[in-house]
Amino acid sequence: MLFWRVKPLDLILETAEKKSLVRQLGAFQLTMLGIGAVIGTGIFVLTAEAAQKAGPAMMIAFIIAAIVCALAALAYAELAAMVPVAGSAYTYTYGVLGEGLAWIVGWALVLEYAVAAGAVCVGWSGYMNGWLDYFGIGLPAALRAGPYSGGTFNVLAFFLALLVTFLLVIGTSKSAKVNAVLVMIKIVALSAFIIFAFPAAQDQNFQPFSPVGWGSPMGGVGVLGAAASIFFAYVGFDAVSTASEETKNPNRNIPIGLIGSLAICTIFYLLVGYAAVGAGGAQPLFGSDGKVLETGSAAFMAACQGSSTLVCSTEPLAHVIRALGMPNLAWWIGTAAAIALPSVVLMMIYGQTRIFFTMSRDGLLPEIFSRVHPRFHTPHVITIITGVAVALFSSMFPVGLLADISNSGTLFAFLMVALGVLILRRTQPNRPRPFRTPLVWVVCPLAILGCLLLFVNLSAKAQTVFVVWAAVGLVFYWLYGYRRSHLAPGNQPVHGGPSLEPHPTFHEGPDPGP
Ligand code: ALA
Repeated sequence: MLFWRVKPLDLILETAEKKSLVRQLGAFQLTMLGIGAVIGTGIFVLTAEAAQKAGPAMMIAFIIAAIVCALAALAYAELAAMVPVAGSAYTYTYGVLGEGLAWIVGWALVLEYAVAAGAVCVGWSGYMNGWLDYFGIGLPAALRAGPYSGGTFNVLAFFLALLVTFLLVIGTSKSAKVNAVLVMIKIVALSAFIIFAFPAAQDQNFQPFSPVGWGSPMGGVGVLGAAASIFFAYVGFDAVSTASEETKNPNRNIPIGLIGSLAICTIFYLLVGYAAVGAGGAQPLFGSDGKVLETGSAAFMAACQGSSTLVCSTEPLAHVIRALGMPNLAWWIGTAAAIALPSVVLMMIYGQTRIFFTMSRDGLLPEIFSRVHPRFHTPHVITIITGVAVALFSSMFPVGLLADISNSGTLFAFLMVALGVLILRRTQPNRPRPFRTPLVWVVCPLAILGCLLLFVNLSAKAQTVFVVWAAVGLVFYWLYGYRRSHLAPGNQPVHGGPSLEPHPTFHEGPDPGP
């Protein structure tokens, strides 16, 4: 049965126990890990994208996206505490909904992680270009953006992806302290923005409040279209669950890390959103036909030529502060983004390689994907393949499109997790649940509906990429994974498999070894 070849949860747990990574992370570190993965291109860059889609009503979009994420986080927390192993939504789905759906989730997570890494590279390049401009050594326009966003080749995004890939291959790890410093840099930058932009908010900048309205399915604009895009800003809290195997008392600490990091980021985002609209103005650009222009389109690029509005900025937070007459503070905010965003790329590419690794260990992807470098203990082959792919598409595509595509995969994964929680409540009611989603029969269905709502409001392009990607994945599964799966009749279930170095963010003290 295609969809019901279930990997028993006990086997999943047993596999994880044999890997025996050192359990060293506490609730505080996990929350920092979550914040480190969450705050990135979404708030620093996509604020402009959301403004173009919804105008000042993008503040509502921030709230809608936060609610959907909060519902999903409550579902994630139940599964992550119950099955504290690596692999995240892919592993949970394998244990609950079966291999076929797990495959699609794993395949969709490529969109979540690899494409998100590309989006963050592009977002970073916007701030980095502004930073270089400050010193009068800015790159020519052709090298600042890809061919689909007014340039030829986004050289900075390309090199950032390759640099991060190199660091991951040699097993570079940020210590918990480095992560904490990067989180502080981001928090200080956002706080400075709020402190200086908030008092400059003017009533007239909120009028008209919702010039585009709610939007319509597949339109990718309006408040719901903006919510579907700005959802990207919250993605990453699920990275907490990828550290489950290295967490002390995961049953308590994983839910705290998941929900705590999301809550803190939400508070910052709402304040930043209000301050950006109030101080910078956030009216979208319309075409001669009266329709709002699609971000990244040729018409939008043309309208942005010589325009100094927020929606045209590739570094919107620095832009608002600069427009308020504080170029030095704007420079500091740009510097903070330039320093801190690469760590989000690192987390995303890391997450991607570990999901490929887990799928390969399950036999669903070629074994070479889980080959571990003898010296560095990293899955170097899949890291290089992933990194080169990220470099290529980040050099070509606009940040908004990449973020929307990434969101399509993430929303699908979140939906499956919420569904998985409900099914497990029915099928295994007595399995110990250290964290129980409160009001599960309300929260999980709402999470599912919320994910569907955002999904249908993504742009038609993003939805199409998702459908094509899923179809390619299913063909690949039929041709390869279905037969090679370690759960296929006659194949050996795997209890151990190669081991890796621990999570890159929390590599503290001596290496526990493979
Ligand atoms: N939430 C992460 C970001 O905004 C992916 O960069």
